[in-house]
Amino acid sequence: MTTTLNTKRLTDAVGAEIIGLTTDDLRDDQVAEAVLAALEDYGVLVFRELRINPVDQVEFCTRLGEVDYEEGHHEVRGIYRITLDNAKRPNAHLMKGTFQWHMDGCTPLHDEAPQKATMLSAIAVAETGGETEFASTYAAYDALSEAERKHVDSLRVLHTLEASQSKTYPDPTPEQLAKWRARPSKEHPLVWTHATGRKSLVMGAHADHIVGMDIDEGRAVLDDLIIRATDPSVIYRHEWSVGDTVIWDNHGLMHRATPYASNSDREMLRTTVLGSEQIR
Ligand code: OGA
Ligand code: MN
Repeated sequence: MTTTLNTKRLTDAVGAEIIGLTTDDLRDDQVAEAVLAALEDYGVLVFRELRINPVDQVEFCTRLGEVDYEEGHHEVRGIYRITLDNAKRPNAHLMKGTFQWHMDGCTPLHDEAPQKATMLSAIAVAETGGETEFASTYAAYDALSEAERKHVDSLRVLHTLEASQSKTYPDPTPEQLAKWRARPSKEHPLVWTHATGRKSLVMGAHADHIVGMDIDEGRAVLDDLIIRATDPSVIYRHEWSVGDTVIWDNHGLMHRATPYASNSDREMLRTTVLGSEQIR
Protein backbone atom coordinates (compact mmCIF):
# COMPACT_ATOMS: atom_id res chain seq x y z
CA MET A 1 0.00 0.00 0.00
CA THR A 2 1.26 3.46 -0.72
CA THR A 3 0.35 6.44 1.37
CA THR A 4 -0.67 9.58 -0.47
CA LEU A 5 0.07 12.88 1.17
CA ASN A 6 -2.22 15.83 0.70
CA THR A 7 0.20 18.34 -0.82
CA LYS A 8 -0.22 21.92 -1.97
CA ARG A 9 2.55 23.35 -4.14
CA LEU A 10 3.97 26.61 -2.72
CA THR A 11 5.85 27.96 -5.74
CA ASP A 12 6.50 26.65 -9.26
CA ALA A 13 10.11 25.76 -8.52
CA VAL A 14 10.22 24.65 -4.91
CA GLY A 15 8.18 23.85 -1.82
CA ALA A 16 4.94 22.17 -0.86
CA GLU A 17 2.70 22.33 2.15
CA ILE A 18 1.65 19.00 3.62
CA ILE A 19 -1.92 19.37 4.76
CA GLY A 20 -3.78 17.52 7.47
CA LEU A 21 -1.01 15.40 9.02
CA THR A 22 -0.80 15.07 12.79
CA THR A 23 2.22 14.08 14.84
CA ASP A 24 0.54 10.68 15.34
CA ASP A 25 0.49 10.11 11.58
CA LEU A 26 4.25 10.61 11.56
CA ARG A 27 4.74 7.38 13.54
CA ASP A 28 3.83 5.44 10.40
CA ASP A 29 6.72 4.12 8.28
CA GLN A 30 4.69 4.54 5.11
CA VAL A 31 4.16 8.19 5.88
CA ALA A 32 7.90 8.54 6.35
CA GLU A 33 8.44 6.95 2.95
CA ALA A 34 5.93 9.31 1.37
CA VAL A 35 7.62 12.28 3.03
CA LEU A 36 10.98 11.23 1.57
CA ALA A 37 9.45 10.94 -1.89
CA ALA A 38 7.78 14.36 -1.55
CA LEU A 39 11.08 15.83 -0.41
CA GLU A 40 12.70 14.61 -3.62
CA ASP A 41 9.84 16.14 -5.64
CA TYR A 42 9.40 19.48 -3.86
CA GLY A 43 12.67 20.15 -1.99
CA VAL A 44 10.95 21.76 0.99
CA LEU A 45 7.94 20.52 2.92
CA VAL A 46 5.96 22.72 5.30
CA PHE A 47 3.85 21.32 8.12
CA ARG A 48 2.01 24.37 9.45
CA GLU A 49 1.46 24.43 13.20
CA LEU A 50 2.27 20.74 13.54
CA ARG A 51 3.43 21.45 17.13
CA ILE A 52 5.63 18.38 17.23
CA ASN A 53 7.54 17.84 20.46
CA PRO A 54 11.32 17.44 20.30
CA VAL A 55 11.30 13.71 21.14
CA ASP A 56 8.79 12.98 18.36
CA GLN A 57 10.77 15.14 15.95
CA VAL A 58 13.92 13.08 16.47
CA GLU A 59 11.91 9.86 16.37
CA PHE A 60 10.36 10.83 13.04
CA CYS A 61 13.72 11.78 11.58
CA THR A 62 15.14 8.36 12.47
CA ARG A 63 12.58 6.97 10.01
CA LEU A 64 14.11 9.12 7.26
CA GLY A 65 17.71 8.10 7.83
CA GLU A 66 20.55 8.25 10.31
CA VAL A 67 20.16 11.18 12.69
CA ASP A 68 23.06 13.46 13.64
CA TYR A 69 23.54 13.30 17.42
CA GLU A 70 26.20 16.01 17.61
CA GLU A 71 25.94 18.06 20.83
CA GLY A 72 23.09 20.49 20.23
CA HIS A 73 22.68 22.22 23.60
CA HIS A 74 19.23 20.82 24.22
CA GLU A 75 18.08 18.16 26.68
CA VAL A 76 16.85 15.89 23.86
CA ARG A 77 19.61 14.05 21.95
CA GLY A 78 19.32 14.76 18.25
CA ILE A 79 18.00 18.30 18.79
CA TYR A 80 20.29 21.19 17.92
CA ARG A 81 19.20 24.58 19.18
CA ILE A 82 19.29 27.46 16.66
CA THR A 83 19.41 30.87 18.30
CA LEU A 84 21.59 33.99 18.18
CA ASP A 85 21.32 34.33 21.96
CA ASN A 86 24.61 33.40 23.63
CA ALA A 87 22.72 32.89 26.91
CA LYS A 88 20.87 29.94 25.33
CA ARG A 89 23.88 28.12 23.94
CA PRO A 90 27.61 28.64 23.46
CA ASN A 91 28.76 30.24 20.20
CA ALA A 92 25.20 31.21 19.29
CA HIS A 93 26.45 34.30 17.45
CA LEU A 94 28.16 32.03 14.87
CA MET A 95 24.67 31.30 13.51
CA LYS A 96 24.84 34.69 11.78
CA GLY A 97 26.49 32.73 9.00
CA THR A 98 23.00 31.38 8.22
CA PHE A 99 22.10 34.82 6.79
CA GLN A 100 24.04 33.92 3.61
CA TRP A 101 22.71 31.55 0.96
CA HIS A 102 24.33 28.19 1.64
CA MET A 103 24.14 24.42 1.62
CA ASP A 104 24.97 22.62 4.83
CA GLY A 105 28.03 20.41 4.96
CA CYS A 106 30.11 21.50 1.95
CA THR A 107 33.25 21.82 4.12
CA PRO A 108 33.07 18.62 6.19
CA LEU A 109 35.51 18.00 9.02
CA HIS A 110 36.18 14.36 8.12
CA ASP A 111 35.13 14.09 4.49
CA GLU A 112 31.63 12.97 5.40
CA ALA A 113 28.92 13.35 2.73
CA PRO A 114 26.63 16.39 3.02
CA GLN A 115 23.62 16.04 5.26
CA LYS A 116 20.57 14.65 3.48
CA ALA A 117 17.80 16.65 5.14
CA THR A 118 17.17 19.09 7.94
CA MET A 119 14.03 19.60 10.00
CA LEU A 120 13.39 22.85 11.84
CA SER A 121 10.55 23.55 14.26
CA ALA A 122 9.76 27.02 15.53
CA ILE A 123 9.73 27.49 19.29
CA ALA A 124 9.79 31.28 19.08
CA VAL A 125 9.81 33.58 16.06
CA ALA A 126 11.50 36.91 15.41
CA GLU A 127 9.57 40.14 15.62
CA THR A 128 11.07 41.18 12.30
CA GLY A 129 13.10 39.09 9.87
CA GLY A 130 14.00 35.50 10.64
CA GLU A 131 12.12 34.01 7.72
CA THR A 132 13.84 31.06 6.07
CA GLU A 133 14.30 31.15 2.30
CA PHE A 134 14.87 28.21 -0.03
CA ALA A 135 16.18 28.08 -3.60
CA SER A 136 16.24 24.91 -5.71
CA THR A 137 19.66 24.11 -7.13
CA TYR A 138 18.03 21.50 -9.39
CA ALA A 139 15.88 24.25 -10.90
CA ALA A 140 19.01 26.43 -11.14
CA TYR A 141 20.72 23.80 -13.27
CA ASP A 142 17.61 23.13 -15.34
CA ALA A 143 17.30 26.85 -16.11
CA LEU A 144 20.73 27.01 -17.75
CA SER A 145 21.00 27.19 -21.51
CA GLU A 146 22.59 24.31 -23.39
CA ALA A 147 25.79 26.37 -23.85
CA GLU A 148 25.93 27.26 -20.16
CA ARG A 149 25.52 23.62 -19.16
CA LYS A 150 28.42 22.72 -21.41
CA HIS A 151 30.50 25.43 -19.74
CA VAL A 152 29.73 24.52 -16.11
CA ASP A 153 29.62 20.74 -16.51
CA SER A 154 33.34 20.21 -16.02
CA LEU A 155 34.06 23.02 -13.52
CA ARG A 156 35.26 22.37 -9.99
CA VAL A 157 34.90 24.70 -7.04
CA LEU A 158 36.88 25.07 -3.83
CA HIS A 159 34.63 25.46 -0.77
CA THR A 160 36.02 26.99 2.41
CA LEU A 161 34.76 28.12 5.78
CA GLU A 162 36.70 31.34 5.29
CA ALA A 163 34.69 32.18 2.16
CA SER A 164 31.40 32.00 4.06
CA GLN A 165 32.51 33.48 7.39
CA SER A 166 34.31 36.41 5.78
CA LYS A 167 31.01 37.50 4.24
CA THR A 168 29.56 37.72 7.76
CA TYR A 169 32.71 39.08 9.44
CA PRO A 170 34.57 41.12 6.80
CA ASP A 171 37.16 42.32 9.34
CA PRO A 172 38.27 39.16 11.10
CA THR A 173 40.80 39.10 13.91
CA PRO A 174 43.92 37.01 13.27
CA GLU A 175 42.44 34.43 15.70
CA GLN A 176 39.19 34.23 13.71
CA LEU A 177 41.12 33.84 10.46
CA ALA A 178 43.31 31.13 11.94
CA LYS A 179 40.23 29.24 13.15
CA TRP A 180 38.53 29.42 9.75
CA ARG A 181 41.68 28.30 7.99
CA ALA A 182 42.09 25.36 10.34
CA ARG A 183 38.90 23.90 8.89
CA PRO A 184 39.61 21.63 5.89
CA SER A 185 38.57 23.07 2.55
CA LYS A 186 36.89 20.83 0.01
CA GLU A 187 36.76 20.71 -3.76
CA HIS A 188 33.42 19.76 -5.32
CA PRO A 189 32.22 19.63 -8.91
CA LEU A 190 29.97 22.62 -9.66
CA VAL A 191 27.43 20.21 -11.14
CA TRP A 192 26.34 17.34 -8.92
CA THR A 193 25.05 14.34 -10.85
CA HIS A 194 22.96 12.60 -8.23
CA ALA A 195 22.46 8.84 -7.94
CA THR A 196 18.93 9.51 -9.25
CA GLY A 197 20.39 10.98 -12.44
CA ARG A 198 19.15 14.50 -11.64
CA LYS A 199 21.65 17.33 -11.77
CA SER A 200 22.01 20.30 -9.43
CA LEU A 201 24.48 23.12 -8.86
CA VAL A 202 26.67 23.02 -5.75
CA MET A 203 27.20 26.58 -4.56
CA GLY A 204 26.65 29.08 -1.79
CA ALA A 205 28.60 31.50 0.39
CA HIS A 206 31.17 28.76 1.06
CA ALA A 207 32.09 28.52 -2.65
CA ASP A 208 35.39 30.37 -2.75
CA HIS A 209 36.57 30.13 -6.33
CA ILE A 210 36.55 27.99 -9.46
CA VAL A 211 39.60 25.78 -9.63
CA GLY A 212 42.01 26.67 -12.44
CA MET A 213 40.16 29.84 -13.41
CA ASP A 214 41.23 33.42 -12.72
CA ILE A 215 39.90 34.08 -9.16
CA ASP A 216 37.79 37.13 -10.03
CA GLU A 217 36.47 35.59 -13.22
CA GLY A 218 35.46 32.44 -11.33
CA ARG A 219 33.79 34.42 -8.60
CA ALA A 220 31.83 36.37 -11.19
CA VAL A 221 30.59 33.07 -12.68
CA LEU A 222 29.56 31.82 -9.21
CA ASP A 223 27.93 35.13 -8.23
CA ASP A 224 25.90 35.14 -11.43
CA LEU A 225 24.70 31.57 -10.87
CA ILE A 226 23.74 32.30 -7.24
CA ILE A 227 21.93 35.52 -8.13
CA ARG A 228 19.87 33.74 -10.79
CA ALA A 229 19.16 30.75 -8.54
CA THR A 230 17.91 32.96 -5.72
CA ASP A 231 15.86 35.46 -7.69
CA PRO A 232 12.81 36.41 -5.59
CA SER A 233 10.60 34.98 -8.35
CA VAL A 234 11.95 31.43 -7.91
CA ILE A 235 12.46 31.02 -4.16
CA TYR A 236 10.16 29.95 -1.35
CA ARG A 237 10.23 32.14 1.74
CA HIS A 238 8.82 30.60 4.89
CA GLU A 239 7.27 33.07 7.29
CA TRP A 240 7.26 31.23 10.58
CA SER A 241 4.48 30.79 13.11
CA VAL A 242 5.23 29.15 16.42
CA GLY A 243 4.73 25.39 16.06
CA ASP A 244 5.53 25.25 12.32
CA THR A 245 7.82 22.47 11.15
CA VAL A 246 9.75 22.58 7.89
CA ILE A 247 12.01 19.95 6.37
CA TRP A 248 14.28 20.46 3.39
CA ASP A 249 16.41 18.37 1.06
CA ASN A 250 19.94 19.70 1.58
CA HIS A 251 21.14 17.94 -1.59
CA GLY A 252 19.12 20.06 -3.98
CA LEU A 253 18.68 23.40 -2.26
CA MET A 254 20.37 26.46 -0.92
CA HIS A 255 18.81 28.10 2.09
CA ARG A 256 19.28 31.11 4.34
CA ALA A 257 17.67 32.92 7.23
CA THR A 258 16.76 36.54 6.60
CA PRO A 259 18.52 38.73 9.16
CA TYR A 260 17.04 39.04 12.63
CA ALA A 261 18.24 40.83 15.75
CA SER A 262 20.98 39.33 17.91
CA ASN A 263 18.78 39.79 20.97
CA SER A 264 15.74 38.27 19.25
CA ASP A 265 13.84 35.47 21.04
CA ARG A 266 13.80 33.47 17.80
CA GLU A 267 14.51 29.85 18.58
CA MET A 268 14.39 26.87 16.23
CA LEU A 269 14.91 23.23 17.10
CA ARG A 270 16.81 21.44 14.37
CA THR A 271 17.24 17.75 13.63
CA THR A 272 19.61 16.71 10.89
CA VAL A 273 19.39 13.54 8.83
CA LEU A 274 22.88 12.52 7.73
CA GLY A 275 23.67 11.81 4.11
CA SER A 276 25.57 8.98 2.50
CA GLU A 277 25.83 10.30 -1.06
CA GLN A 278 29.02 12.18 -1.86
CA ILE A 279 28.91 15.07 -4.32
CA ARG A 280 30.15 13.82 -7.68
C1 OGA B 1 20.32 25.70 9.39
C2 OGA B 1 19.98 27.04 8.88
C3 OGA B 1 18.27 28.75 8.86
C4 OGA B 1 17.29 29.37 9.81
O1 OGA B 1 19.72 25.30 10.39
O2 OGA B 1 21.17 25.03 8.79
O3 OGA B 1 20.63 27.51 7.99
O4 OGA B 1 16.33 29.96 9.31
N1 OGA B 1 18.92 27.65 9.43
O5 OGA B 1 17.49 29.31 11.03
MN1 MN C 1 22.05 25.92 7.16
